[in-house]
Amino acid sequence: MIDRPFADLSVRPVPFPEPAAGQLAVRVRAVAINPLDAIVQSTGRLMYGWLDYPAVLGEDVAGEVVAVGEGVDAFSVGDRVCAYAMGIEKGRDALAGGGFQHYVAVEASMTARLPWDLSFTEAAVLPLAFSTAAAALFERSQLGLDHSTLGSAPPRDEIVVIWGGATSVGGNAIQLARAAGYRVITTASPANHDRMRALGAEAVFDYRSPDVVRAITEAVGGSAVAGVVAIAAGSAEPCVSIAARTRARRVALTSPSVSFYDQPRHGGLSVRRARLLSRLVLSNIRLQAQCALHGIRARFVWGSSIADSPVGAVVWGEHLPVALETGGHRPVPSPRVIGSDLGAAQRGLDLMRQGVSAEKLVIALE
Ligand SMILES: NC(=O)c1ccc[n+]([C@@H]2O[C@H](COP(=O)([O-])OP(=O)(O)OC[C@H]3O[C@@H](n4cnc5c(N)ncnc54)[C@H](OP(=O)(O)O)[C@@H]3O)[C@@H](O)[C@H]2O)c1
Repeated sequence: MIDRPFADLSVRPVPFPEPAAGQLAVRVRAVAINPLDAIVQSTGRLMYGWLDYPAVLGEDVAGEVVAVGEGVDAFSVGDRVCAYAMGIEKGRDALAGGGFQHYVAVEASMTARLPWDLSFTEAAVLPLAFSTAAAALFERSQLGLDHSTLGSAPPRDEIVVIWGGATSVGGNAIQLARAAGYRVITTASPANHDRMRALGAEAVFDYRSPDVVRAITEAVGGSAVAGVVAIAAGSAEPCVSIAARTRARRVALTSPSVSFYDQPRHGGLSVRRARLLSRLVLSNIRLQAQCALHGIRARFVWGSSIADSPVGAVVWGEHLPVALETGGHRPVPSPRVIGSDLGAAQRGLDLMRQGVSAEKLVIALE
């Protein structure tokens, strides 16, 4: 639980989260740590101004259904599921709906049943990253790609460029774009190139190479680029350059131009925070000017947006449960278990701020 902006997480009892209509109560067996949790903790009211404190952070849960709300007939008590815990999103219950607790209320529409041989720890890496990838690729306001035949789509001769394939969002985006029939070019550190190819990318480039934008443009050749997904802080600028050179018209931005990890962890005025925010504003102005010059639409993605759009129903309700069963969607990256009690959540946030590579920090609850 976080008691006020910038506070360390603490553990204390809260009431059982009775599921409202359309919701499930889930006993959490595994919960993953996301950059979003660290960002909410260290940006105070800047990004999540609507959040009522105290609140429970944590978006990625896997566990067993223990109660079913009115109007839900797709799930029963005892089902093994993973779900996107959306408590911190606007208009939702930030206590009942946060994932860092033993019982959580989740939307049935953002929940998927798990195959018997997929562990809770493995499944907990999915929900937020999967939702964000789907929002970036399929929302009409983003790349707006065709997802009507997801999982059985014929191959298309169109490329999606996904910057940051080794991120949790990126690994899901590669698989979803492939399931929708698109070709994928991505970026990752060399140590992760084989992983990216195994997920379905046809070409992978090191994002640290000074030539990376030119190399991706050459790899595209004359093919059509359906859009570019920019993942990781600082990815927006090279992605808009790639779009300009390949005549792609849409860029989905999942991350800000600056890293929010570069600001002080605690609140109050500071030169470091002021510099970071002014860099953020200036880079956004430059970025939008470049987009205007090349006729590119670049918009910020909000992973939770699919909960209220037809995309959520398709990817969570139809695609994910089947694709997990058949191996058509793999939970990536691999989980790294950092503890077995909720007290590990703050340690997880601090560890994540130091950087992770192709792994997701997970608490495996007893
Ligand atoms: N807008 C939304 O709704 C939303 C939702 C979720 C996440 N996000 C954002 O999406 C980003 C990724 O989140 P995540 O949870 O997927 O992260 P993550 O799994 O923690 O990402 C770790 C990976 O980031 C890669 N990386 C680091 N810097 C990079 C760069 N400059 N270019 C390309 N890859 C880079 C590293 O790849 P290598 O190991 O190959 O170096 C590393 O494996 C974050 O910025 C997060 O805030 C946004």
